[in-house]
Amino acid sequence: MLAPGATIGILGGGQLGRMTAQAAARLGFTTHIFSSEPECPGAQVTPLVTVAALDDVDALARFAQSVDVATYETENVPVSALEAILPHTPVRPGVEVLRVAQDRLREKDYLRSIDVATAQYREVTGPDALGRAIRDLGHRAVLKTVRMGYDGKGQVMITPDVNPAQAWAAIAGAADSAGIAILESFVDYRCEISVVVVRGTNGTIVNYPAVENQHANHMLDTTIVPARIAPELAMRAEAIARHIAEKLDVVGVLAVEMFVTHDDEILVNELAPRPHNSGHWTMDACYTSQFEQLVRAITGLPLGSTERHSDAVMKNLIGNDIDRWREIVAEPMSKLHLYGKVHARPGRKMGHVTRLLPRHE
Ligand SMILES: Nc1ncnc2c1ncn2[C@@H]1O[C@H](COP(=O)(O)OP(=O)(O)O)[C@@H](O)[C@H]1O
Ligand SMILES: [Mg+2]
Repeated sequence: MLAPGATIGILGGGQLGRMTAQAAARLGFTTHIFSSEPECPGAQVTPLVTVAALDDVDALARFAQSVDVATYETENVPVSALEAILPHTPVRPGVEVLRVAQDRLREKDYLRSIDVATAQYREVTGPDALGRAIRDLGHRAVLKTVRMGYDGKGQVMITPDVNPAQAWAAIAGAADSAGIAILESFVDYRCEISVVVVRGTNGTIVNYPAVENQHANHMLDTTIVPARIAPELAMRAEAIARHIAEKLDVVGVLAVEMFVTHDDEILVNELAPRPHNSGHWTMDACYTSQFEQLVRAITGLPLGSTERHSDAVMKNLIGNDIDRWREIVAEPMSKLHLYGKVHARPGRKMGHVTRLLPRHE
């Protein structure tokens, strides 16, 4: 167990790294953020920053030597970066879950191998293969890059009037250097939900309730807490998320995104081995936030309660939404979080607001 005063290394300095550093500071830990961007949200709230590229092995080794444990705020960290760190300090969650979560094909293969249902999918390696996969899976599908996608980036909707060559060209620039993509059947879901699970070094596992996620342009817009689904379905979703965290031996936080179909099937969409946007509400509506849980899990402290004292609706502030901060900050039951980003580009997550409601059940 690490004691307060120890240093936690965080790969990545976006809003997730920032909010992790804030939670760590509250428990008396120091944080050291490794980021390729000097003006990242995380750098504003941590005493130690290394600005270097994720393939700078010397910088990674020095960073690793200066911390007592390391974690990452995004699954888009190359495994090689973890390998440069591992001789010097433990990384939690580990390499295995990162490998699975950063590759959509490997992720779906893995989920199927542990009996978790997903949408139908095919590997595609070019426009001809895409044409065949569309004939196989049907004309309502989503083409995605295998790696480096987030917030709907690197995705194209396939509809009957879309030509495979054009669809391929649309993601080819962003596609994996190996030119591999995945075609997934379009899931005509009733709703999207997610479950955030936390697992400690001794295998203790806890989860937050299933929440409902509404997306706009394939990007999270609103999270409703709890999900408006039958208790039996919520329990099933929570069991699936715990099963995956256990199989992957996660120490830290794992978010599991799922679709609920019209016939009450649950299909897992993707995994994130880190705090998740759909868990931001826990900062204001729970006794222990997902960020504090990550800090507790990776330092070996006992996990906190995942109990919520309030229901909540979390809304992302994307691009110019941030201009409404004056109104939002004046709402008495709303908690405004801003990430310190200077430029409000369209599609950029600038902050979020959690609106608290009395807990219903
Ligand atoms: N197969 C699919 N069927 C229906 N909607 C999908 C499908 N794949 C993705 N989406 C929509 O796009 C969103 C983002 O896709 P996702 O695979 O989660 O990628 P990202 O890494 O960008 O979050 C999903 O939450 C969902 O709303
Ligand atoms: Mg997603």
